[in-house]
Amino acid sequence: MDGTTYLSDYRPYPFTLDEVALRFRLAPTATRVTARMTLTAREAGAALQLDGEELDLISASIDGVALTPADYLLTETGLTIHPAALPEGRFTLETEVQIAPAENTALEGLYMSKGMYCTQCEAEGFRKITFYPDRPDVMARFHVRIEGDLPVLLSNGNPVAQGPGWAEWDDPWPKPAYLFALVAGDLRATPGHFTTMSGKHVDLNIWVRPGDEDRTDFALGALQRSMKWDEDAYGREYDLSLFNLVAVDDFNMGAMENKGLNIFNSKLVLASPETATDADYERIEAVIGHEYFHNWTGDRITCRDWFQLCLKEGLTVFRDQSFTADMRLGPVKRIEDVITLRGRQFREDAGPLSHPPRPDHYREINNFYTATVYEKGAEVVGMLRTLVGPEGYRRALDLYFERHDGQACTIEDWIKVFEDSSGRDLSQFMRWYTDAGTPHLKVTDSFSDGVYTLEFTQHTNPTPGQMEKPARHIPVAVGLLSPNGDEVVPTTVLEMTEPRQSFRFEGLASRPVPSILRNFSAPVVLEHEAPAEERAFLLAHDTDPFNRWEAGRVLARQTLMGMAEGEEPEPAYLDAIGALLGETNDPAFRALILRLPGEDEIAQALFAAKKTPDPDAIHRARRGLMEVLAKRHEAALARLYEAAAVPGPYTPDAGPSGLRALRLAALSLLSTRDGGARARALYKAADNMTESLGALAVLVANGAAEAELAAFRARWQDNALVMDKWFATQLSLAPPAAAAGLATRLAEDPLFDWKNPNRFRALMGGLSANHAGFHRADGAGYRFYADWLLRLDPLNPQTAARMSTAFETWRRYDKARQGLARAELERIAQTPALSRDLGEMAARLLS
Ligand code: BES
Ligand code: ZN
Repeated sequence: MDGTTYLSDYRPYPFTLDEVALRFRLAPTATRVTARMTLTAREAGAALQLDGEELDLISASIDGVALTPADYLLTETGLTIHPAALPEGRFTLETEVQIAPAENTALEGLYMSKGMYCTQCEAEGFRKITFYPDRPDVMARFHVRIEGDLPVLLSNGNPVAQGPGWAEWDDPWPKPAYLFALVAGDLRATPGHFTTMSGKHVDLNIWVRPGDEDRTDFALGALQRSMKWDEDAYGREYDLSLFNLVAVDDFNMGAMENKGLNIFNSKLVLASPETATDADYERIEAVIGHEYFHNWTGDRITCRDWFQLCLKEGLTVFRDQSFTADMRLGPVKRIEDVITLRGRQFREDAGPLSHPPRPDHYREINNFYTATVYEKGAEVVGMLRTLVGPEGYRRALDLYFERHDGQACTIEDWIKVFEDSSGRDLSQFMRWYTDAGTPHLKVTDSFSDGVYTLEFTQHTNPTPGQMEKPARHIPVAVGLLSPNGDEVVPTTVLEMTEPRQSFRFEGLASRPVPSILRNFSAPVVLEHEAPAEERAFLLAHDTDPFNRWEAGRVLARQTLMGMAEGEEPEPAYLDAIGALLGETNDPAFRALILRLPGEDEIAQALFAAKKTPDPDAIHRARRGLMEVLAKRHEAALARLYEAAAVPGPYTPDAGPSGLRALRLAALSLLSTRDGGARARALYKAADNMTESLGALAVLVANGAAEAELAAFRARWQDNALVMDKWFATQLSLAPPAAAAGLATRLAEDPLFDWKNPNRFRALMGGLSANHAGFHRADGAGYRFYADWLLRLDPLNPQTAARMSTAFETWRRYDKARQGLARAELERIAQTPALSRDLGEMAARLLS
């Protein structure tokens, strides 16, 4: 396809680039950038191709001699200097360009946010700053001089000199252009420090806009905990004497790992008890960890090309997940991660956007920062660890850092360190990276003469462009329980490599109850027919906390699927919840079991069972089950609600967070009995955002939040991050029939600043999270959503394209809905001058 990039076309860059000196003279609509690069040809006769977009070329010279138009070719996408104009050996190319950061609404390259200059260069944003080989395998040392009349001027690495209106920075570590960063503005620092394991002193700063300084303490602590954890868990030490982290209000993504100068969406930095929820605190710590961990897995060892993205992202997500598991409650974190994986990645893999963790072609790389690259990429790392064991994993990682430090690598390099350090053949395992689709694992069992046999078959449905699905290498962790709940076979990892395979367990006194895929040892769909009583038994007795929760989840899902088709709720499930309410074990864990599967998960399960999900019936079923549970267990829930109140002042720690989660889960069920009285009282009494927003959400879901929504808006209208919650909460939980109308009204609110990505995501994400509202039978949800994607696309194609994934499930639903969704996607696809980003997404969504 035209404009498509293929993995198989990879060629090394024909020049080496040792050093680059950049000089920025900042001005909102006329910033001048000069770049001086020292280059050496590696192949005789090669043209010098530099990427560049939306740049005004002012001048170009080689070794001090100006180039004439005959020496180069200038196009929309770059500058090519003819071989004849290039000297032999080492030479210096100097260019000057002009750019307009204040007019940069795409928020990629150098742009402005509320008077502050900042950059976002991954994946291909550096080419909007200057002419350069903008590819991750070209690594150079950067020297940066910034001139501008702003008090704080930052770039990567170490400060070398500064004066009024200027500053110079040197980064000693060679890096690809996507890790370049510049920030300039009126900023305030929260300073801190860290002493590394070898005793080196590191200065830390959290930079924010004036007025936000009182919400930075948690971020600083999270950074210090991250630095310590990477030393303890991976033996990795920080490698500069300064680490700067900046919060910016207009940002397309969550955060970015630029060397020594991480840039964050302010929602992932700023936190106080009054403005941030427990979930926000947990997320902030995880993302600060994630970007910090990239210093080794991303910056010191980077990707050869963007097809290898999961080399750094999958591994770094795996690392941040382990970090959070260590900081908080491991099993609870694992369950949360699996909920996210199924909600985002399994959903992606089951639709038109399915692709392998390492894709082999793309039109726009920004469209491949996906749940598959990230979350499935992390699962694949987790499976490697399961296969070689914790010590084998540490040996492999030590070898990875030793062998590849300073390099731009591939997935093959990564797999090779596991092969070399463990002696295992991982060629079949490699399919997890190259193949798309979620394997389905069917299990049957039998028992005779003391021998218990598990028989597995694996099957993966065809995905776009990949019809044949050879068997994968799947680690299946299994344990066996005796009927009284004792563990008769402890967790054992079975390795499945064939399409069909049996495993025998000998010497058992009676037929055991199997606990399969413990800790979710592989990202597969487990198909295991079992009576509801057996699942209730596992929910009560499994020694693997993940599978305890999973048993409850399957029961809840099956109950809801049945109810959506007119059946009565499953009694074994209702009883099991009653038993759980009487328990005293970990509150966060119980909260997870009390939280019912969402409507999208139920629709996904119905579709996988070859049924056509009806969004309205699913919504009614879920509300209906909440009512049944609440009616049946009202007294126990009420007791639990009182007992789970957290004493003392707010802290975001795992313990009190878990209690609040449990209490809010009880509140949500009880609201179907008390007309929202408890929620209204909690809203009034709450001194923290977790409880205010939790109570507000319960009231919204009951259609009874009018007064509280008005009060919330009046109180928080000047706090953008809190107002994002106001938009998202009322829309995502509104009664579905009202959602499209509400979305229209909210879009007219003067506070709907649609050019701000967080605000845009709050509204559109709120609507698409309202499953039955978005999939309304008359198509009003689809139409509203498509209108806004088309409106945003010319300004910010990256965010418009990312948000278009709301449509990835359109083929699940009935013919009428499919027709309406398809019409909107075709309308998008046929829009003239559509961006490459949204154009690619619309085409794939329709494929
Ligand atoms: N490298 C990415 C940021 C990025 C993503 C830049 C896409 C350009 C395009 C960063 O490390 C990252 O992965 N951020 C995530 C959060 C993380 C915790 C998964 C994000 O921004 O959502
Ligand atoms: Zn990342």
